[in-house]
Amino acid sequence: MKIRKAVIPVAGLGTRFLPATKTVPKELLPIIDIPSIQYVVQEAVDAGIQEIIFVTGRGKDGIEDHFDEAPELEQILADRGQTATVDMLRRIAEMTEVVSVRQKKPLGLGHAVLCARDLVGDEPFAVMLADDLIDAETPGIRQLVEIFTETEESVVALMKVPREEVHQYGVIKGTEVKPRLYAVEGTVEKPAAKEAPSQLAIIGRYVLRPEIFSILQNLPPGRGGEIQLTDGLARLVQQRKIFGCEFTGERYDIGDKFGFVRATVAYALKRKDLKDKLVEYLKSLKD
Ligand code: UTP
Repeated sequence: MKIRKAVIPVAGLGTRFLPATKTVPKELLPIIDIPSIQYVVQEAVDAGIQEIIFVTGRGKDGIEDHFDEAPELEQILADRGQTATVDMLRRIAEMTEVVSVRQKKPLGLGHAVLCARDLVGDEPFAVMLADDLIDAETPGIRQLVEIFTETEESVVALMKVPREEVHQYGVIKGTEVKPRLYAVEGTVEKPAAKEAPSQLAIIGRYVLRPEIFSILQNLPPGRGGEIQLTDGLARLVQQRKIFGCEFTGERYDIGDKFGFVRATVAYALKRKDLKDKLVEYLKSLKD
């Protein structure tokens, strides 16, 4: 079965980026001149996903507007002869179908995913967190979709992290069944280092079977009083298999300030218009 839809929850408050996020959604903070959310939507499109479902909250309307047409702006740019810029804006508006649903209160990631239930319907779907940018030859979510296509079971993205960082992540217990592919046996949200079942952290890309919705519907609040997607996965794995994909590529945690700076530098170094100047500048800092 094909994965046609991706749920992107963007209803969080983004408190780590205050005051920037007082009025600007964190997903619109740019990595250079491209809002970070656009990289994530592009990754979905590159994996053949046809519809993006944003789970939004108050003050997040700008995210949908970014993927909509902007006729007045386009007209002004066209009158000035800036046709390349008009074309660029059109391409963004035509990237994909976008729909949205509101999460009225930020009750947790699991709750945010549950809010998309009616829009997803009874089919497997992707979940992508905009805090994680994955720079990879094969788009991160495509690597998971390929495993789903083979197995028809849910798949989570995994990354090995140092033991002292496991408390920041959902962590799996699992067995490697093929290089970089794990059969998940259990999941724990943000365990203490000595209680963690492994150093395999769940990163913000998932392909989920629709059975997850009835599980989330009946899930009590977990860590931090929030409905946790990781707790939902811990129940799903008792009903059906879940696979873990240790994806290839570089991941940037842009929900974290240093991760955001790392991504900005790395993406600037990939650009012809910036690379040489940036390298020269970085070298000058060492002197
Ligand atoms: P985070 O835990 O990073 O929270 O959420 P946050 O509010 O975005 O950021 P900080 O920690 O306050 O700075 C992980 C992802 O889940 C979404 C967020 O938008 C983010 O993409 N989320 C989280 C929701 O959509 N709803 C929630 O209730 C919680």
